[in-house]
Amino acid sequence: MTYLETAAQFYHEVAQTPQVGLCCVQSTPLQLPGLKIPDKMQAMNYGCGTTVHPTELFNQPTVLYVGVGGGLEALQFAYFSRRVGAVIAVEPVDSMREAATRNLEIAAEENPWFDTSFVEICTGDAFNLPIGDASVDVVAQNCLFNIFEPEDLTRALKEAYRVLKPGGRLQMSDPIATRPIPAHLQQDEQLRAMCLSGALTYQEYTQRIINAGFGQVEIRARRPYRLLDTQTYKLEENLLLESLDSVSFKVAIPEDGACIFTGKTAIYAGTEPFFDDSAGHLLQRGVPAAVCDKTAAKLANFNPAEIMITDSTWHYDGGGCC
Ligand SMILES: C[S@@+](CC[C@H](N)C(=O)[O-])C[C@H]1O[C@@H](n2cnc3c(N)ncnc32)[C@H](O)[C@@H]1O
Repeated sequence: MTYLETAAQFYHEVAQTPQVGLCCVQSTPLQLPGLKIPDKMQAMNYGCGTTVHPTELFNQPTVLYVGVGGGLEALQFAYFSRRVGAVIAVEPVDSMREAATRNLEIAAEENPWFDTSFVEICTGDAFNLPIGDASVDVVAQNCLFNIFEPEDLTRALKEAYRVLKPGGRLQMSDPIATRPIPAHLQQDEQLRAMCLSGALTYQEYTQRIINAGFGQVEIRARRPYRLLDTQTYKLEENLLLESLDSVSFKVAIPEDGACIFTGKTAIYAGTEPFFDDSAGHLLQRGVPAAVCDKTAAKLANFNPAEIMITDSTWHYDGGGCC
C-alpha cells in the first residue's frame, strides 16, 4: 500500500465509525445564524481550524472543496452560496462520499434554507480535480494537504492554482510543525493519515504555496494544535504542532517576492506628519499601517529609529500595503 492508500483506508474507517477528535482537535465549528449542523456531521469534524471566512463569501462564490469529510464545511460554504452546484466537493473515498451525502440530507431536513443540490459531491482527488482551468472562485481544504508528502503537496497546490479563476482564493487549514518532524515519524503512514506527522514547518509550508504561483498569502490564525511528546513519539524533545489558517491569492508574484501578511504593522514615529518610502507606502505619524512581512523588513531596515514594526499577530484580514 502507498501512504495515500493507507490514508484512504483510514478515512474509510472513520467514515463508517465517526471518531470525535480522532485525527484533529475537538473544536466548536463556526456557528452561523440559522445554521443547524447535524450531530453526525459535527461528530465527523475532522478539520483543525476553519477555511470558512464569512466576510469574504459575498456574491455567492463557486467553491471547490477538496476532501469533503462529513460535509461540515461544504454545508457552511453553501450557507453563503445558496444556489445549485455552488459547492463542488471532491472526495476519493466511497464511504466518505456516502457519509457526507447522508449528513447533507439530514442538514436539508434541519435547515429550511438548505437544499442538497447546493453541494455536488464528486469522485476525484486533490491531484486531479474534475473541473476545468480557471473555473472557481475559492478552493478550500481543511486538514488534508498536511497528509501529503512534500512533492505531492506541490502537485495538489498547483492543481488548486489551475482551477482557480485569476484573483481566486485558496483557503486552507493545516497543522504545521514548530521544527522539522523526524524521519521516523514522517514515515509512519498511520500517523501521517491522522494529521500528526506530515506537517511541514511554517517556512516550508508557505514557501511551497508561493512556489505553486500564489502571489499573496494571508495568515488568518495560528494556534497550538497537538504536542508530540518524547515518550509516545520517541523524540528527544517534545514537539509542538500548530494549526495554521491561511488564504492564498492567485495573483502575480511581485518582482521583489510574494507578499505574506501575518498581522504586522509599521508605525512612523518621526517628526514629519507622514513618511513616504517612495515605494507606495505612506505612513501617517503614529498610525499603524498593516504591512506584509516583506515590506515590514524593508521599512525596518530603512529607518529603524523612526519606524516601529509590530509583531505578527497571526491574524490579518485586509488593508495595508501591496
Ligand atoms: C482530515 S479529513 C478532513 C475532512 C474535512 N475537510 C473536515 O474538515 O472535516 C481528510 C479528508 O480528505 C479525504 N482525502 C484523503 N485523501 C485524499 C486525496 N488524495 N484527495 C482528496 N481528498 C482526500 C479523506 O477521505 C477525508 O475526507
